[in-house]
Amino acid sequence: MNLVVVKDYNEMSNVSANIFKNTINQKSNSVLGLATGSTPIGLYKRLIEMNNNKEIDFKNVTTINLDEYIGLDEKNPQSYRYFMDNNLFNYINIKKENTFVPNGRAKNFDLECKNYDKRIQELGGIDLQVLGIGANGHIAFNEPSEYLISQTHITNLTKSTIEANSRFFNSINDVPKQAITMGIGQIMNTKKIILMATGKDKVKAIRELLEGNITTKNPATILNLHKNVTVIIDELIAREINR
Ligand code: GLP
Repeated sequence: MNLVVVKDYNEMSNVSANIFKNTINQKSNSVLGLATGSTPIGLYKRLIEMNNNKEIDFKNVTTINLDEYIGLDEKNPQSYRYFMDNNLFNYINIKKENTFVPNGRAKNFDLECKNYDKRIQELGGIDLQVLGIGANGHIAFNEPSEYLISQTHITNLTKSTIEANSRFFNSINDVPKQAITMGIGQIMNTKKIILMATGKDKVKAIRELLEGNITTKNPATILNLHKNVTVIIDELIAREINR
């Protein structure tokens, strides 16, 4: 696991955007695994700038997102499809049909999950995956639990995730209780991973991740078994965990 300590959020966004740039410039038809949440917004801003400056070209790129809330459709500003359209896809030269987010309003969720896995396989796997991390160590919506699920599945959100994500909603009662998420298996199968974390809320989860022990109580710790992970943290977290 490579650890990169950056001064602040801006540097984090630049460092991760450069990793994306290298991946796309080495392979123009890269498959990029994308995440939502506040952490990757700066990265997406940089990618938009780089695309406008013609430093990167998304013409042949495919993207596949980690997760989506159950019950929210693409017109709902809290849906992850809306987030991706409005924080990235609408501003770069990607073909919309090459952007995939799980359908939170699917008629048949079993089928939606199976088809999502099939799609990843047909695309030849994910070249580069960006991850944030929940304060409880969740990655995508793989929550701490007795066991972790490998494939795309429907999951119940924990109380702490509902509370954390309620900041994006009018009221905590509006936060969906369930989500559709890529499983740990898909994340572990990606060729390269960047995990980004800033701020004091993430200290505990990052400390446990970097300690190297693997526990389902902190799903991110499984990344210790992946061969190509770069963890990017800010100085605040680094100080707290003595790195
Ligand atoms: C959500 C997402 C995760 C994200 C996490 C952290 O629950 N499903 O993919 O990593 O929150 O979010 P943030 O970056 O806003 O701290």
